[in-house]
Amino acid sequence: MTMTTNTTTTNTATAKISVQGVRKTFQLKNEEFVALDHVDLDIADNEFVTVVGPSGCGKSTLMNILAGLEEPSSGHALVDGEEVSGPGPERGVIFQQYALFPWLTVRKNVEFGLKVGGVPKAARRERAEYFIRMVGLEQFADALPKMLSGGMKQRCAIARAYAVNPSILLMDEPFGALDALTRVKLQEQLLETWNREKRTVMFITHDVDEAVFLANRVIVMAARPGRIYETVEVDLPYPRTEDVRLSPEFGELRNRVWHAVYHQEPGTNAGTTSSSPTA
Ligand SMILES: Nc1ncnc2c1ncn2[C@@H]1O[C@H](COP(=O)(O)OP(=O)(O)OP(=O)(O)O)[C@@H](O)[C@H]1O
Ligand SMILES: [Mg+2]
Repeated sequence: MTMTTNTTTTNTATAKISVQGVRKTFQLKNEEFVALDHVDLDIADNEFVTVVGPSGCGKSTLMNILAGLEEPSSGHALVDGEEVSGPGPERGVIFQQYALFPWLTVRKNVEFGLKVGGVPKAARRERAEYFIRMVGLEQFADALPKMLSGGMKQRCAIARAYAVNPSILLMDEPFGALDALTRVKLQEQLLETWNREKRTVMFITHDVDEAVFLANRVIVMAARPGRIYETVEVDLPYPRTEDVRLSPEFGELRNRVWHAVYHQEPGTNAGTTSSSPTA
């Protein structure tokens, strides 16, 4: 299999998302905890990047910085060349813990961002309808979140994020609470949407198969301090069909990512992708 050698950093001028020398510390009782250190990452326009790594390595912290919910202690986070200074409508965020408005129905939750954005009632109803169907919640459009299971709440959060049509999707383990079938279905829908309409995606997951199946590039992080450990280019064809999932190339990449996540050398970086998964 031919794989292009790593291009971890795209030209900053053209990068949709650029993380430059980011360090993030949290003040604990007696010490400073380094959640992220020396993180450099460029994501090109319309690129699909997945992020994997052990629990506590700073994945959510990195995403929260890009979402504008946390500030780096030093370094820069840029979107379209501009320093991130807070949340913005071009960035749709799906959190690890589904965040729905408990007092609004599924439909009203999905319509919320559209309403804020000034989309007229009929158009927003129609758009919400489409995404509610996409995640299979049409029977529950008028239900309140408390009547939904965890997986259903997460599907509602996904529909809400897609509905506002952001150019960037920041997704923190969005499918983690879902059953396997729904998960595969939503992976395929996400890729379809991404293929059809231009989107730049950063997608955090614990599932190595999911990381490889979706991505142009998998970023493997390590903990203590939270950092980028290895970058694996995924040169598999789209559309990613069942055949791709079952191919030997997929298996090789999965093993490579798996190895990078579960056999990390403390305190080191394995660096960037090499061109063949033989290491
Ligand atoms: N507000 C905070 N105050 C103190 N420490 C924090 C805070 N937020 C995160 N941390 C610490 O920073 C580290 C990274 O947390 P983060 O949530 O980014 O990890 P993660 O990679 O997303 O983990 P998981 O896979 O379990 O979701 C953790 O050790 C966590 O305890
Ligand atoms: Mg997390």
